[in-house]
Amino acid sequence: MFIKPFVLLAGSLSIFAYPNPGFAAKRSDTQSCSAFMANPSSTYSCENSTTVTSNSCCFERAGLMLHTQFWDYDPDKLSSAKKRDLGYSPVHRNKKRSGAPSSSYPINKSFTIHGLWSDYCATSSGKSAGYPASCDADLAVPDSVNLSDLIANQFNKPDLYQLMKTYWVNTESSNVAGDSDEELWAHEYNKHGTCMNTVRPECFTGVYKQYDAAVEFWQKVTKVWDGLNTYEFLESASIVPTTDNTYELVDIKSALQEAFGKDVYVSCKDGALNEIWYYYHVKGSILTGDYKPVDKIGSDRCPDEVYYIPK
Ligand SMILES: *[C@@H]1O[C@H](CO)[C@@H](O)[C@H](O)[C@H]1NC(C)=O
Ligand SMILES: *[C@@H]1O[C@H](CO)[C@@H](O)[C@H](O)[C@H]1NC(C)=O
Ligand SMILES: *[C@@H]1O[C@H](CO)[C@@H](O)[C@H](O)[C@H]1NC(C)=O
Repeated sequence: MFIKPFVLLAGSLSIFAYPNPGFAAKRSDTQSCSAFMANPSSTYSCENSTTVTSNSCCFERAGLMLHTQFWDYDPDKLSSAKKRDLGYSPVHRNKKRSGAPSSSYPINKSFTIHGLWSDYCATSSGKSAGYPASCDADLAVPDSVNLSDLIANQFNKPDLYQLMKTYWVNTESSNVAGDSDEELWAHEYNKHGTCMNTVRPECFTGVYKQYDAAVEFWQKVTKVWDGLNTYEFLESASIVPTTDNTYELVDIKSALQEAFGKDVYVSCKDGALNEIWYYYHVKGSILTGDYKPVDKIGSDRCPDEVYYIPK
């Protein structure tokens, strides 16, 4: 497998310079990470040449970050497309098709949120080194907690709750025991968020409220997702959901690479596109730091001709 070398461009590729509304006074990480960010010897995660022993709130040790999204297509539509034995239909890049879906059904045009994961840094030969999971049962959010009440009322973030309810959907591919969306949110924080050393309660100032870290984690995930409109990335290359033709994997890959700047991982279920993983290194905290796109590691899991089926 051909592995592109990581390109180390200090800061210039960051596409997420989120303001940090409302939390600067409460959290310590913005304040305490400014010295880390300003220090010229500070690096992005997974790019340190020496062991970083301090700054546990500003340097993510398992710092290969993945933001993952689902395309939850309708399996019945895939079955009928397959029955028609479609041939490969070449994509004419940058020519808009007249049949593109209208904007009146935004969820049909949205890849939904799976999560934000921290993997161990890739090996020097560019291979996966695995990932930490379910690191701190004391921080975990049990399913008995009412997340609607927690997020919308106790943490006074009704907009965050609405966004999660709409776009963070528990799909068949989620790999979660329960069926509800809330179980997926809790699972994602419990499995991945509790492993992030820069998201720990010690990285907050002021009065730490139970589940503060979880709520901030969920909010950050939605913000990363909000900056990555996969549907539009594909649509701008005239790749839209259809049962009329398949697409070439290379065309899907190049549309995503054009938008993200780096190689993006794509995964299929039954030959149809259903998951996208975007990889990053982060400088500073997962909650407030700079996200820099990097090439995916590992092999895509799609055939050369890909179904991209409507929801
Ligand atoms: C980078 O820092 C982390 C965290 O201290 C450490 O685990 C890792 O070994 C360091 N990497 C290198 C190449 O020194
Ligand atoms: C969007 O989804 C609705 C049902 O949720 C469906 O009726 C409609 O046909 C879909 N539109 C497109 C363009 O896929
Ligand atoms: C969870 O909280 C919401 C908002 O407070 C409330 O409407 C809902 O009934 C609660 N659900 C359960 C299962 O208690």
